[in-house]
Amino acid sequence: MNSQEIYQQRIENVLDALLEKGEEPLCESMRYAVLGGGKRIRPLLVYASGEALGVNKDLLDAPAAAIELIHAYSLIHDDLPCMDDDDLRRGKATVHLAFDEATAVLAGDALQTLAFGILSQPLHGICATNQLKILQILTASSGAAGMVKGQMIDLYAAGEILTEDQLATMHNHKTGALIKASVLMPTYCFEGNADNLTTKREKLAEYADAIGLAFQVRDDIIDIQSDTETLGKQQGSDSASDKPTYPSILGMDAAKEKLFQLHEKALSSLSSFGREADLLRQIAEFIVKRIA
Ligand code: IPE
Ligand code: IPE
Ligand code: MG
Ligand code: MG
Ligand code: MG
Repeated sequence: MNSQEIYQQRIENVLDALLEKGEEPLCESMRYAVLGGGKRIRPLLVYASGEALGVNKDLLDAPAAAIELIHAYSLIHDDLPCMDDDDLRRGKATVHLAFDEATAVLAGDALQTLAFGILSQPLHGICATNQLKILQILTASSGAAGMVKGQMIDLYAAGEILTEDQLATMHNHKTGALIKASVLMPTYCFEGNADNLTTKREKLAEYADAIGLAFQVRDDIIDIQSDTETLGKQQGSDSASDKPTYPSILGMDAAKEKLFQLHEKALSSLSSFGREADLLRQIAEFIVKRIA
């Protein structure tokens, strides 16, 4: 197994242990939404950023799980009939179809609460000030100033023509915010402060801004150029809902050029790091080339 696969397996085990096993629809729908699917890019970024900073891996499991739970909740709600109205997610029926709409809403709610619960437990090896900072990062990135804001912009942008700046604002919120949180939370996984942390944090934030936007630009591109089976979600969903996207607003060539520039920016942000940031570099490459 390569290091990405090792971390994917690790987060799968952590999530499995965190989610209650039970036969009630709430437990079942939460496990259905979270386990056995997804690329786990956000947890991978938590572990990779931790590697770049030399953080003990055991301290990264809680933020890695919390961010994936927030992401899974956001996907359940994103697929609802009142939002993108999608039928397929991670190669399976969406939660509101496999269960029902009310269960999907509540499973999303409960996953969100669980994420904050995990980070509110005593995290041995991280001082209280830093633990609060981690919670603040998750709060800001997922709420009305972060992902939820982006989702709101997205929904009301359907049928509109946005400027490139407006498009970037939407993408940076709906997708970039959780990606940036994944990279920044490990910069607080310490007792107190580590060497040169402020400078490293700034560089990691630049990297995260670049790959966060790149992730959604690539998502827009593969919505057009990939296929439903590979994606595990309906191909062409954006154009069917008349969503403004990078290819629809700028054209496919300009969207790909943007992706190239963002990749360059991500790599140059890491230039002061050595081999310890190689996993971050590999993830950046994966993000701009992925077909699913
Ligand atoms: C899908 O995210 C939603 C977006 C932010 C574009 P991912 O492409 O990371 O979905 P999974 O977790 O791999 O299913
Ligand atoms: C979803 O963006 C972003 C969040 C879930 C916050 P999309 O609507 O583009 O994601 P997909 O294409 O359905 O995965
Ligand atoms: Mg959406
Ligand atoms: Mg969607
Ligand atoms: Mg999409």
